[in-house]
Amino acid sequence: MSFTIAIDGPAAAGKGTISKRLAAHFGFGHLDTGLLYRAVGRLMLTGTEPVAAAQALVAADLEAEGLRTAQVAQAASKVAAIPEVRAALVDFQRAYARRSGGAVLDGRDIGTVICPEAEAKLFVTASAEVRARRRFDELQGNGVQTDYETVLAETKERDHRDRTRADAPLRPAEDAVILDTSEMDIESAVAQAIAAVNATMSERAGQ
Ligand code: CDP
Ligand code: CDP
Repeated sequence: MSFTIAIDGPAAAGKGTISKRLAAHFGFGHLDTGLLYRAVGRLMLTGTEPVAAAQALVAADLEAEGLRTAQVAQAASKVAAIPEVRAALVDFQRAYARRSGGAVLDGRDIGTVICPEAEAKLFVTASAEVRARRRFDELQGNGVQTDYETVLAETKERDHRDRTRADAPLRPAEDAVILDTSEMDIESAVAQAIAAVNATMSERAGQ
């Protein structure tokens, strides 16, 4: 049986952390769809044409080094605005969403475009300042030399590009539960996400 949990939201909102924890809690698989765009963005930076890169994307690209850098994040959001790149990645994501045993997918357009029929949808968000602070702390923890203002500017630039593109812009699905984690630590955010999915599951069981 398949059950899809769609997690969308802007950069560094906590999507990945929440998705991993949801997947572990429910025993589902997890696909971080941002990695697909990051892999294509990274290939573009090394000279590969992005549509060809998306069409030829192989699992090994998703495990490549250096996908988490700020430079690759910006490249990802640029290639993500190209409709042919998005189109080349759709089937893989939809097949994953319908895998047996349940799936959590996180990204920008999971609840709106990839899996509008997902059984549970969450839109995870927080203020740009809080998200930039989290990403900055994360980068510093990994020994990356940067400053908060730069991370904030990059976060806002990427969000703006993601929200204003014509194809699959970042926005909550109409039936998504909004989880604003600005004032929440990760444990409360995870607990609320689990509660929201449980509520959907019992609603469905009662139908
Ligand atoms: O996947 P996404 O970019 O949305 O975010 P993430 O990688 O899950 O989270 C970015 C950073 O914020 C991680 O270091 C999380 O531990 C942290 N975080 C937090 O401190 N509090 C939250 N409520 C959510 C995330
Ligand atoms: O971890 P973070 O939230 O910073 O970024 P990500 O989820 O790894 O996504 C990197 C970029 O890929 C985003 O800024 C989007 O432009 C793009 N993306 C997308 O367009 N659609 C998705 N489903 C996932 C990511």
